[in-house]
Amino acid sequence: MKFFVDTAEVDAIAELNDLGMVDGVTTNPSLIMKSGRDILEVTKEIAAMVEGPVSAEVVAMEYDEMIKEGRKLAKIADNIAVKVPLTWAGLKTCKTLSSEGTMVNVTLCFSANQALLAAKAGATFISPFIGRLDDLNLEGLDLIEDIRTIYDNYMFDTQILAASIRSVNHASECAKIGADVMTAPPEVIKKMANHVLTDKGLDAFMKDWAKTGQQIL
Ligand code: E4P
Repeated sequence: MKFFVDTAEVDAIAELNDLGMVDGVTTNPSLIMKSGRDILEVTKEIAAMVEGPVSAEVVAMEYDEMIKEGRKLAKIADNIAVKVPLTWAGLKTCKTLSSEGTMVNVTLCFSANQALLAAKAGATFISPFIGRLDDLNLEGLDLIEDIRTIYDNYMFDTQILAASIRSVNHASECAKIGADVMTAPPEVIKKMANHVLTDKGLDAFMKDWAKTGQQIL
């Protein structure tokens, strides 16, 4: 499973990138707002830092404007994936940009039917939002499973990009289901290394090692 980092904070991306944990980056208007940066500048900086796809989202609601914004964002770098919302205007934009050879990430997906439409529109990525479904007391992970089944049934190339990941449990469950990619905040990716038994075991080893009086270096 590929790891995308869900942030527009360049320092956090750089830190994980140095560890080889970054296969791509996703941003959205809220994350750009949070970063306090200019969208064009920060997207260019991120795209130069990471090798994989960097998603930058359009903000227009109508096709004509969406296409203009998408083409402008796509020009920032070769590894830009234009993010469009799952609306008919977004799907039409997806179809056009995909046929021009631009990667497209269709976002704000909350149902299997929406994912089916995105695949038919030629999306490179579909972003089902797990956490926001869980917030409504629905099973976000069930949606990932349903989309996996549908895409496998018909051999769609669209990659399932599990989004709105809120916990380490979401990450491991997505990997078990077979999501192609997950995009998670840096904090969640970092927490994946934690285990209480690792800490306990290390503590015991260090105490015993001190008793030997030995040194390796
Ligand atoms: C995905 O591309 C979105 O940027 C993101 O995963 C949304 O997550 P949230 O629901 O935690 O805001």
